[in-house]
Amino acid sequence: MPKYFGLLALIFSCGLIVRGGLVPQVEVPEIPDEVSLDAEGPKDSNTTSTKSTLKLVHVLFRHGPRTPVNTYPKDPYINETYEPYGWGALTNGAKVELYKIGKQLRQRYRDFLAPYYQPDMIRAQSSESPRTMMSLQMVLAGLFPPENTPLEWNLMLNWQPIPIFMEPEETDLRIRMKASCPRYDEAVLEIFDLPEVKKIHEENSQLLQELSDFTGLNVTHAHDVTNIFISLQTEQTYGLKLPEWTKDYYPEKMLPLAALSYVYDAYTAEMRKLKGGYFIEFLLNQIQSKISGKLKPADRRMFISCGHDWTISNILSALDVWEGQMPRFSALIAFELHQKEETGEYFLELYFQNDPDQEPKQLQIPGCEKQCPISKLVELTKDVLPDAPYKDLCKPKRTLNGAKITYH
Ligand SMILES: *[C@@H]1O[C@H](CO)[C@@H](O)[C@H](O)[C@H]1NC(C)=O
Ligand SMILES: *[C@@H]1O[C@H](CO)[C@@H](O)[C@H](O)[C@H]1NC(C)=O
Ligand SMILES: *[C@@H]1O[C@H](CO)[C@@H](O)[C@H](O)[C@H]1NC(C)=O
Repeated sequence: MPKYFGLLALIFSCGLIVRGGLVPQVEVPEIPDEVSLDAEGPKDSNTTSTKSTLKLVHVLFRHGPRTPVNTYPKDPYINETYEPYGWGALTNGAKVELYKIGKQLRQRYRDFLAPYYQPDMIRAQSSESPRTMMSLQMVLAGLFPPENTPLEWNLMLNWQPIPIFMEPEETDLRIRMKASCPRYDEAVLEIFDLPEVKKIHEENSQLLQELSDFTGLNVTHAHDVTNIFISLQTEQTYGLKLPEWTKDYYPEKMLPLAALSYVYDAYTAEMRKLKGGYFIEFLLNQIQSKISGKLKPADRRMFISCGHDWTISNILSALDVWEGQMPRFSALIAFELHQKEETGEYFLELYFQNDPDQEPKQLQIPGCEKQCPISKLVELTKDVLPDAPYKDLCKPKRTLNGAKITYH
């Protein structure tokens, strides 16, 4: 509210109502920075925002809450239109949440990023999906509000355009991870033949049968449970009342299997290579370029990417730090390259924030310290780095006759 009055005062005192908008043409008075007063950011400031040793950060997050993508034959809402968003689209609640995450990032990296948007400083990339492109725009809106900066252009709209790059699905191995890969499809099915995975499905055969009866789907794999789980979750978030049967199943009974599908997605080193490996390769390349002074542009400080639930779980699985859990909407990973002042040594700190209302949690890569030296990181990830062209890695071994399961 006070801000609003401040704005009005400015407008009246300057009389700057110009065709096409309200354009500030005078030195903008110092108004306390809203973001720095915001207590939403992380509180462990010594290990994060005020640290002068941060050199480069990769932020990767899942798009925000959305309307359902999938339904099931017996879904009472099978004909729902999900007005005004449509199916599989970001909700207004998501926009609020993502904007807040942008402000959290501004708070966390306020001493690291320039006070306003600069083209070389950041590269923002989204998967080829409307909900990730929209999510990235919302986070960038919170991260780079132009108010009180030289980029302010409209007193009534504290927003500015920031470019977003996107790679088509067919070539996006880093974020979208949906480029055709027959070998991967085989590998997922092979997992279900492993004794320990078979056992879990056998133990849950009654649950799978009951879910089949209630939904009208053939619920066979953990992935089928995940799909139903997320459909119910998104219907409920949209404001629909879930059918009576769900009370005994959702979320508790379904949760363990629903969460396991993310583990199975990247169960073997080969699967980790085909999925998370491409992002890890990119991350290590950027880190090594930064260290050797060859990163272009030289003043790049942040990469920020927006992907999907499987993007998050596959990349953390490739680093062997994924715990069996449901990745939440808006879940966020921060990969921070730091340099020790005393020794000059470079290391990675890894943070995961599954819930934007909670502090990011620092993760520890097995075999490494929480401050993981880059040389050690390279050593620990060598088995998941792609070592042949994708096309070759994806050649089927014909272990199955073209069978395929759909997942998420
Ligand atoms: C933060 O770091 C400073 C300087 O190293 C130290 O004096 C201070 O006690 C630290 N604060 C916390 C909360 O750890
Ligand atoms: C959905 O629409 C179809 C076609 O109009 C109708 O036959 C069916 O009963 C509707 N289903 C539900 C659950 O409303
Ligand atoms: C359900 O799917 C499994 C695996 O795809 C298949 O073996 C089975 O025959 C299917 N059952 C029905 C009733 O369609």
